[in-house]
Amino acid sequence: MSAMVNVNGRITPERDAVISVFDHGFLYGEGVYETMRTYHRRPFLYDRHMRRLRRSARMIELPLPFTDEELAAQIRDTQALAKIDGEVYIRVLVTRGIGALTYDPKATPNPSIVIIVKPQVDPPVDAYEKGVKVAIVDVVRNHPDTVNPMIKSNNLMNSALAAQEAIKLNAFEGVMRNYRGELTECTTANLFMVKNRVALTPPLEAGLLPGITREFLFDIGKDVGVEVREQTMRDDDLFGADEAFLTSTTRELVPITTVNDRTIGRGVPGPITLKLLEAFRRRAEAD
Ligand SMILES: Cc1ncc(COP(=O)(O)O)c(C=O)c1O
Repeated sequence: MSAMVNVNGRITPERDAVISVFDHGFLYGEGVYETMRTYHRRPFLYDRHMRRLRRSARMIELPLPFTDEELAAQIRDTQALAKIDGEVYIRVLVTRGIGALTYDPKATPNPSIVIIVKPQVDPPVDAYEKGVKVAIVDVVRNHPDTVNPMIKSNNLMNSALAAQEAIKLNAFEGVMRNYRGELTECTTANLFMVKNRVALTPPLEAGLLPGITREFLFDIGKDVGVEVREQTMRDDDLFGADEAFLTSTTRELVPITTVNDRTIGRGVPGPITLKLLEAFRRRAEAD
């Protein structure tokens, strides 16, 4: 990995990118972040990512001391120094900042702002051509009244534990249920299934991250005449789906052909999934 990192305006190669152990992001996981990627070397859906970053920050009462344009300029400067040929991955983190060992936000008046720029790594072509296996895991997604999954939070223990389970099961991703036993999302992606040519995804109310790719897919569906809507889902709905796929910024749409040890549909990426993926890529290239 050859990353260039911007820590509070100071841009350095990754080996020199450091932050204080008294930063509350490190001490308490108090912070929010966004993951973006470029197409044609420009951050894709930047305005939507900034809207979500601001909502996440509001939900933890973290003031963001920059405008969208100011942050975009910092990203551009970091990207320019990274000198990466091809598309880049951009992670923006804002933490509570450095302060005394207390949860009182008054101890940390200055948030820390970190921008990581590194090469975008696409999933293997095989994942798109053959589809992937996911596993429904036992770790339950955070209850919305604890650390609300709507917050794209640096506190990722819930997802990390679920991902550990999926890795042990040799799965590409882990699917998490909520406290009611309904399916929510994957550890780093949103979940969709296709039934009777309609693309269905669990409702935000189930307790999940409002993915930017998930949101964009509602527009893509309109472009190509595929109905996309929210629907509560349980294990059996997914097992009985005609097709399934996951969505995320860095992976676009990845077909799911196996859930635990059950084959989904015909066991190959389905026609609606491929139609949406193709339309997504067209829009991403054009926008
Ligand atoms: C828990 C979770 N859900 C969904 C997503 C997908 O969101 P997006 O499409 O904005 O990348 C992510 C992305 O990292 C995630 O961490």
